[in-house]
Amino acid sequence: MKLLDECLSIGCYTLTHELGRGSTAIVYKGTDAQGGEVCVKKSNLDLIGNWKARELFEREASVLEQLSNPGHPGVPKFIDRMDRADSQYLVLEYVDGQNLQELVEEERCLTPQEGVHMALQALDILHYVHSRNVIHRDLKPSNLVLGKDGKLRLIDYSTVGGRFVYPADGSTIVENYSGYMPPDFLNGKLDPKSDIYSLGATLFYAMTGLRPIEALTKKGRIDMGRLKAPRNLRKILKGMTELDLERRLDLEGAVKRLLKMGDMPEEISGELREREMPSIRGGASYFSAAVT
Ligand SMILES: Nc1ncnc2c1ncn2[C@@H]1O[C@H](COP(=O)(O)OP(=O)(O)O)[C@@H](O)[C@H]1O
Ligand SMILES: [Mg+2]
Repeated sequence: MKLLDECLSIGCYTLTHELGRGSTAIVYKGTDAQGGEVCVKKSNLDLIGNWKARELFEREASVLEQLSNPGHPGVPKFIDRMDRADSQYLVLEYVDGQNLQELVEEERCLTPQEGVHMALQALDILHYVHSRNVIHRDLKPSNLVLGKDGKLRLIDYSTVGGRFVYPADGSTIVENYSGYMPPDFLNGKLDPKSDIYSLGATLFYAMTGLRPIEALTKKGRIDMGRLKAPRNLRKILKGMTELDLERRLDLEGAVKRLLKMGDMPEEISGELREREMPSIRGGASYFSAAVT
């Protein structure tokens, strides 16, 4: 987090730090009129051009507004939006934490046990998001923020309705391809299971430090043999990252299999916890046996 040389003001918000600079936006930490912490996402017109930035901004603002009602602890709450001639600003709940990309680059990889824990939290968020007819489409390490409270948040809803940028020459390119995106998108398919693929690829990175693109087999699959983890966990991630949409594990299937490996994390307060899953609750717990 970089302290700004000079604080910026926008509406009743004061921007104090730069949190990140993605492909579409500059993200700041700031405070509201009462001194409460907020996150302000400013569309970056220089980077992607005016019309595209506006379209992405509109999409993200409306999806986040929709997801904030009733809301889920894993989705930052929409607070405000501001339109100015030169830029648009989205004000969101600030998450005090680190994204998984930074965590792995700056500190360490997740252990398999943490991976299972993280996977179940992420699936709980996806369960909420999908039930509101939203497919994230850009789930990757930098878009999962692990709060200091131990809770995971899924951020960045700018690509919810489209994944490609269209350069001036009319060709379609895939932004920063690192292997988190399933082949479904290239075939023009859109399915909730697309997010399951991206989550599997993200967990592979979080536990190995290898970008999926660096660990592909000849057939283009992520080589789960590179992951040092219990066989069952490798099998689940393999199922989540099946190239064929039909054969890929769905959310329910992934949850059931993961719960056989570890208990439901306490952080999960969403609909996944409320659901009755008696048959899997009693299953053998690999990790509780291995850890204690
Ligand atoms: N609500 C938030 N709270 C804290 N940090 C955030 C928040 N939203 C984004 N960030 C940080 O800013 C980075 C870029 O934000 P993101 O929404 O992914 O922008 P982009 O669309 O440009 O990728 C993230 O990787 C994360 O580290
Ligand atoms: Mg992002």
